[in-house]
Amino acid sequence: MHENRRFAPPAALVAAANVTADAYAAASADRIAFWEEQARRLDWARPWTTALEWEPPFARWFTGGLLNVAVNAVDRHVDAGHGDQVAIHWEGEPGDTRTITYARLKDEVCKAANALAELGVRAGDRVMIYLPMIPEAVFAMLACARLGAPHSVVFGGFSAEALRNRIEDAQARLLITADGGFRRGRPSGLKAAADEAAAGTGIERVLVVRRTGEAVPFAEDRDVWWHDVVDRQPAAHVPEYFDAEQPLFILYTSGTTAKPKGILHTSGGYLTQAAYTHHAVFDLKPDTDVYWCAADVGWVTGHSYIVYGPLANRATQVMYEGTPDTPHRGRFWEIVQKYRVSILYTAPTTIRTFMKWGDDLPAGFDLSSLRLLGSVGEPINPEAWIWYRDHIGGGRTPVVDTWWQTETGAIMISPLPGVTDCKPGSAQVALPGIAADVVDGGGVPVPDGGGGYLVLTEPWPAMLRGIWGDPGRYADTYWSRFAEQGYYFAGDGAKKDQDGDLWLLGRVDDVMNVSGHRISTTEVESALVSHPHVAEAAVVGATDPTTGQGIVAFVILRGGAPDGGAAPAAELRDHVAREIGPIAKPRQILVVPELPKTRSGKIMRRLLRDVAENRSLGDVTTLQDSSVMDLISARLPAAS
Ligand code: WT7
Repeated sequence: MHENRRFAPPAALVAAANVTADAYAAASADRIAFWEEQARRLDWARPWTTALEWEPPFARWFTGGLLNVAVNAVDRHVDAGHGDQVAIHWEGEPGDTRTITYARLKDEVCKAANALAELGVRAGDRVMIYLPMIPEAVFAMLACARLGAPHSVVFGGFSAEALRNRIEDAQARLLITADGGFRRGRPSGLKAAADEAAAGTGIERVLVVRRTGEAVPFAEDRDVWWHDVVDRQPAAHVPEYFDAEQPLFILYTSGTTAKPKGILHTSGGYLTQAAYTHHAVFDLKPDTDVYWCAADVGWVTGHSYIVYGPLANRATQVMYEGTPDTPHRGRFWEIVQKYRVSILYTAPTTIRTFMKWGDDLPAGFDLSSLRLLGSVGEPINPEAWIWYRDHIGGGRTPVVDTWWQTETGAIMISPLPGVTDCKPGSAQVALPGIAADVVDGGGVPVPDGGGGYLVLTEPWPAMLRGIWGDPGRYADTYWSRFAEQGYYFAGDGAKKDQDGDLWLLGRVDDVMNVSGHRISTTEVESALVSHPHVAEAAVVGATDPTTGQGIVAFVILRGGAPDGGAAPAAELRDHVAREIGPIAKPRQILVVPELPKTRSGKIMRRLLRDVAENRSLGDVTTLQDSSVMDLISARLPAAS
């Protein structure tokens, strides 16, 4: 599809936009002063003395400043007279609902903070959170923030094994989980996996929310029910104020090795940028908008754009527990209609799924409340962009394509809805205060029309402060590629068009993007080789029309393993789901006799990608044994 249309912001949005073009000018005149101005959106118990201390690659923002993140997200709105405003319209998958005002949210967070303190949590302790999309996930995160205890949320779809690795890496003592949640019309258990993960680790207490009511194993000396411990607490809690650099959370994400990286975020800078970008990119009007970010709190999108950014801005938001097709494929649109949602933020993979389900579904609901749409997680193809605007946004709404990462903490590149003429498929421009560029392999900026690597050339407030427990890996992963220039290497390919607008082209490392989730090829490979039947494995991300990329695995079975047929493939797919989680399940497993390797023994994934995407093979001359590809190709029809 060749799409050259540009979409100017609607006049009404321009007239009342939270942020105008002046912000770019202000930020480029004095970037640091600009961010100081944004930090004043927050309540500080003591102002900072230095805005930025930058000893590359280590940054400290707003040092000397004291704040409490939870007070900024909750208490201050109640104190300002907004206690009766709805913070969260929660919608359970089975149709049960909860309406949580800011006053109620404050009580719940304070009670949870008192309970955590009673269970021994002190500032600096790490707390694991493994919960479905229920309000307690938000209460738990904010209770940790209130106590200065960094949380580490693990997506409920991750396996026991994945949770255990994270518990051990973070050395957490408390785990917050639930009996389960509702997914696809059924209760989906979490407690058994939580138990399996916690066994033999440093977890001393497990706090369990009752959601599904299913019977679950309960260790009387270790486990406590949320309703027993939290509900009896006083709804008052005197907050302590912490340094701007107090760790707020650790969120694990896949890198190029099998071991996920614990991305560390701190308080003042993170909250400043999460709140500012939410205000600027979503143009949130707290008195009239109803905002819905359809992500899971287990991902960074949920951290920054369900919990911290929107609540700091006093948003009224929708939070939904389940899947978009339960009990019917119009569920999202029913929710938009019911709550009069005005701002919706979701992922291209979800949009493409809706496209597949047909135009009639959204057409059957009243979506006239929507005034702004957002996209995140992977490049959005122009067809999906146009469909989203036309069929969901009624041909009226801007669509903001927001580029960022777990590491950046908040949105970095995006149109501004009241300023930018949107270009379908492009994230377009670095936000005010953000410095991004596209450089060639030598670190030299490419001219307009050129392509290369996306870099961030100046530190930003919400930047990761490191990889938990591994400063060497932090410097190496992000700062060594363009060390000479001192640029942050994002791991994404990008191009600049003739107008200088940015187009993101996907990862340039061994990281796949499946439905907007980052999965490392090495991580899936090591899960596969941990199966007794597998001798060797190579994994590639192949283009997929719905999920962006699909995981294709090439495996060599051990002698004696059952070969051929679907049995080994099905067994191995389940094995990966058990090791990592269902999101990492390969779409396709090909049993092959050999893998293509260079003379130095490195697997040539490029060739495997050619096979997986049914392309004719690229250059095979560097292969150690060029007949290997014939062997692989010969096995294909029978192998999947
Ligand atoms: C990677 C980061 C950001 C929250 C969700 C994912 C890709 C993300 C876009 C976009 C093109 C995008 C990049 C990035 N990505 N947003 N708008 N256009 N690519 O967070 O799991 O840390 O993944 O997602 O490849 O590096 P994450």
